[in-house]
Amino acid sequence: MKQFSKNTPLKKKNFPLSEVYRLLEPGPVVLLSTVRAGRPNVMPMSWHLMMEFTPPLVGCVVSNGNYSFASLKKSRECVINIPTVELAKTVVACGNTSGESVDKFKTFGLTAMPAKCVKAPLIAECYASLECKVVDVKLVTKYNFFILEVVQAWIDPTLKKPRTIHHQGEGEFMLPGRTIHLPSPKTSLGRKL
Ligand SMILES: Cc1cc2nc3c(=O)[nH]c(=O)nc-3n(C[C@H](O)[C@H](O)[C@H](O)COP(=O)(O)O)c2cc1C
Repeated sequence: MKQFSKNTPLKKKNFPLSEVYRLLEPGPVVLLSTVRAGRPNVMPMSWHLMMEFTPPLVGCVVSNGNYSFASLKKSRECVINIPTVELAKTVVACGNTSGESVDKFKTFGLTAMPAKCVKAPLIAECYASLECKVVDVKLVTKYNFFILEVVQAWIDPTLKKPRTIHHQGEGEFMLPGRTIHLPSPKTSLGRKL
């Protein structure tokens, strides 16, 4: 192991705490659809994380300043739609408008499709859609953090390498790059070796 000495140059510099979120980009930007008073709405979301394999549980932060917050809290249902890069500009536009004053489906040309288990709609233009029910609201008051269970998942199987978009803050988005395979005994590929 390399030893640290007083002469080891410190390459790392101070990084502003307000920008830490940009280092821990958690996954693809999604479009969260909800329904309120019979009208569907959609908001981009990047602060979400997987919490369990089966049933699939997803945690997410939906700010209480957003119109979607009250819709989600009241209806306890939503759909997590996963867009690809073709929708990137629409995603940003949806993030700069509020469902309170704008019908985003109409304004941005998104197609709402009926879901199987929830009232919120699937977005036809997205390559995957996850119908979710809110299963835990214990952290909502303090952190705006909802725990969702995915009760039905849909995917377009023709899209082999979906180019999802990953938010890095300040209008920057990263696209997926090369895939590398590192089989181990815990992976299905590894078990076959
Ligand atoms: C790429 C991107 C990611 C975002 N991620 C989140 C998020 O994780 N949680 C959140 O509350 N707002 C997030 N926002 C902000 C909301 O999408 C934005 O405030 C939106 O206008 C809310 O819409 P609504 O008022 O119709 O609910 C994000 C916006 C963008 C553009």
